[in-house]
Order: sequence, then C-alpha cells, then structure tokens
Amino acid sequence: MDTNTDIILRTHDLIGGYGRTTILHGTSVEVPRAALTTVIGPNGAGKSTLFKALFGMLDIRSGTIDLDGTDITAMNPMQKLQNGMAYVPQGRNIFPQLSVEHNLEFGGVSLRNLPETHRRMERVYEQFPILKERRKTQAGTLSGGEQKMLEIGRAMLLEPKFLLIDEPSIGLSPILVQQTFDLLLKLRDKGVTILMIEQNAKQALSISDYGIVLQQGRLALDGTADDVLNHPEIGRLFLGGVVNVEGDE
Ligand SMILES: Nc1ncnc2c1ncn2[C@@H]1O[C@H](COP(=O)(O)OP(=O)(O)OP(=O)(O)O)[C@@H](O)[C@H]1O
Ligand SMILES: [Mg+2]
Repeated sequence: MDTNTDIILRTHDLIGGYGRTTILHGTSVEVPRAALTTVIGPNGAGKSTLFKALFGMLDIRSGTIDLDGTDITAMNPMQKLQNGMAYVPQGRNIFPQLSVEHNLEFGGVSLRNLPETHRRMERVYEQFPILKERRKTQAGTLSGGEQKMLEIGRAMLLEPKFLLIDEPSIGLSPILVQQTFDLLLKLRDKGVTILMIEQNAKQALSISDYGIVLQQGRLALDGTADDVLNHPEIGRLFLGGVVNVEGDE
C-alpha cells in the first residue's frame, strides 16, 4: 500500500496451514482503515485460510498480526471479538431452525448482557428493516440474500471496527449482490474497516477502495482498487478467467 495510507491491520510474514501442509508462505498484507478492501486470487490461493488466521482459527507457526497497535497474533476468536473484529465465513452460517431474533440474540452471547443485546438488536433492525419484519420467522426460510443480511446483522451486533467477510455474493442473484455490496459500503461510511474476499473480482473491485491479490499464500499485488483492476499483470495472474480486466462492462 502507499506509505501515506492509514493502515489499521498488518500481517507480517505469516506462516501457517493445516497439519503439516503449509498454505500461508510468509503472507504480509496491509489493510487501510475505514475502507473497503477486496482480496482476490485463484482458488486455493489461501484467501479463506488467511481470514481464519486473522480471526484466530488457524495454527500460525510464525509471523505476526497487528490490529491498530495491538499484537493479536495469539488471540483466540473470543478475544478477537473483544478487540473489535468480527468474521462472516464463507457459506451459510445461520441457525436455520431458529427465528431471526434468536439468531441475533445468539450473535450477542459474547456480550454476556441480554438487555444490551436487545438494545443493539433494535439498532440492527433500524439498519435492516427486513430483518425486523421477519424477526419471528424461521431463519432457514429466508431468501439467500436475507440470510446473508442476517449474518451481516449478527456480526454488526458486536459493533466491530473490523469486519472480515468471505465471499458474501456466493449464490446471490445480481440484485442481491448489489444490495449486499451497498450495505457494506454503508458500513464503511460509518467508519467500519471491511476486508472482503470475492470471486466476483471485477465487480467487487469496482466498488472497493483497495485491492489485495493473493497467490500461493503470498501477497502478489496490492494498491487502490483501480490500480489492481488496471494492472497488466492481473490479466496474466488470472488467466483462466477469475478476473478479466479486458472484459466488457
Ligand atoms: N481444513 C482444511 N484442512 C486441510 N486443508 C485445507 C483445509 N481448508 C483448506 N485447505 C487447503 O488449503 C488450501 C487453501 O484453501 P483456501 O480455502 O484458503 O483457499 P481460497 O483461496 O479461499 O480458495 P477459494 O477461492 O476456492 O475459496 C487449499 O489447497 C485447500 O485444499
Ligand atoms: Mg475461500
């Protein structure tokens, strides 16, 4: 990133993986504050693995993670939540049998304060009126987009300063993808730092502030989203079509 950019999160030389398999081979990334940054890269590049590492769900062998001046490398997910990080993993992560409001209540468990959870739920309902309308509904019967909204709302309940979101657009119709991106931009405008993984690389970068390209567990390129979109190397890196920078609008 540009040396003048205000960085909220930095990883330095992260090495880690699963068992004896190393996936992150010295990953060093920088995430600008109060901005939307999209991580792209080929399948298997280690994007989701990096997010697990950031949230304390991966065995990190060496390297560091610094969040706003605090070394959070060794923290577990609960401690990361308490330090202002929230994580929306890839896929569906709601309790389908429970109502919308019980899903939200569950999201607030780490607050250990039910009245406070309920106050925050009202704020989530203000931002997501559809969830309020559906609060008594079984979450599994919501549309895909509404379920993603519930997951994002549940993460927002913790009022994080840093949101990790892994492939929010998967399985959503183009309109719902746009709505989800709009929602993330609104959160960014409120000062939340968002780090998002997207396969839908061109569209995601076109609404993002910054871009990070990962390849084989290493940083391949970063910069403003426009710089990444227009970088001649990106076409070559993504030969096979994850990104087609010369594609039609
Ligand atoms: N729980 C796991 N145990 C063992 N290997 C894993 C596990 N999860 C992921 N991997 C392997 O780690 C590598 C990186 O996976 P990861 O999910 O981080 O990639 P990704 O960049 O998110 O890819 P995609 O774009 O397909 O989501 C892959 O080779 C994958 O098979
Ligand atoms: Mg992934």
